[in-house]
Amino acid sequence: MEETLTTLFKREEVFDTTLYIPETFEYRNSQIAEIIRAIKPGLTNNKPQNKIILGKQSSGKTTAIRKVFQTINENTQKIKTVYVNCRINDIEKEIYKRIAISLYGNKINYKMQKEELYSRIIDYCVKNNVTLVICLDDIDNIHNIHIINKMMYELLRSGESFFVKISIIAIISRPELISLLDRRVKNFFLSNEIKFPDYTKEEIYNILKKRCEKGLIHGTISDEIIYSLASYCYRESDLRSAIETLRSAVVLAEIEGSLAIEEWHIRDCLCL
Ligand SMILES: Nc1ncnc2c1ncn2[C@@H]1O[C@H](COP(=O)(O)OP(=O)(O)OP(=O)(O)O)[C@@H](O)[C@H]1O
Ligand SMILES: [Mg+2]
Repeated sequence: MEETLTTLFKREEVFDTTLYIPETFEYRNSQIAEIIRAIKPGLTNNKPQNKIILGKQSSGKTTAIRKVFQTINENTQKIKTVYVNCRINDIEKEIYKRIAISLYGNKINYKMQKEELYSRIIDYCVKNNVTLVICLDDIDNIHNIHIINKMMYELLRSGESFFVKISIIAIISRPELISLLDRRVKNFFLSNEIKFPDYTKEEIYNILKKRCEKGLIHGTISDEIIYSLASYCYRESDLRSAIETLRSAVVLAEIEGSLAIEEWHIRDCLCL
């Protein structure tokens, strides 16, 4: 067996951009505080505010929501949080199914129609007297704007029709989508935008450096290499790829039998 068991990773999972939630999440305190402020009324049986979260790719939107939902789930049962990724669940019925599965687990029959799923969701809120906060992440990926309008309106109006408390946090990367929202839907979100600005080069450098400290054996990568990756990532606005590139560069360095990442490992993985 040629492959050696030695590795340059201390914790490889910290380079997994879909599953890993970073323990340190800097530069987003004010946005996290705004999200919490919006949800907090649910603790006293009031309806949380609806919010639109706006920001370009890799600006930390999904991570912020995951962190807030994690805190809520650990601290209260009065609020039920549901996260739906609209990149995967991109049609109306799938979204309702995702929400229903979050509430009922495997009791949801895959053949249920949209109307039944919707009424199950409402039933859950009534019977358990909980406030539902639904995050619809990446709604830009639902290509049919009529579906976005119809679904959001249906969920948001359910409060008035069935005396349940349901609010929506919609995550959007393309701000122009907001102008396509129906006026009746927009009214639910008036002055309720939370902006996630682009990271500066220094912020990206610090994020990447922290990730390397967490995930790599000390001395595996130099500050200069991290800085040059941060500069690239800043130009391309793509923090996610930079993190994934680090992982691939480590694997390449290991294959090459190198004890440290060199500039060309990174360049090779970026396909430059
Ligand atoms: N402030 C931060 N500190 C540490 N890691 C961060 C920070 N912001 C983003 N990241 C990391 O960058 C990657 C992308 O973040 P995230 O998925 O939250 O971005 P996003 O805004 O949802 O992007 P997209 O619009 O492409 O879905 C993740 O691996 C996340 O851990
Ligand atoms: Mg995201």
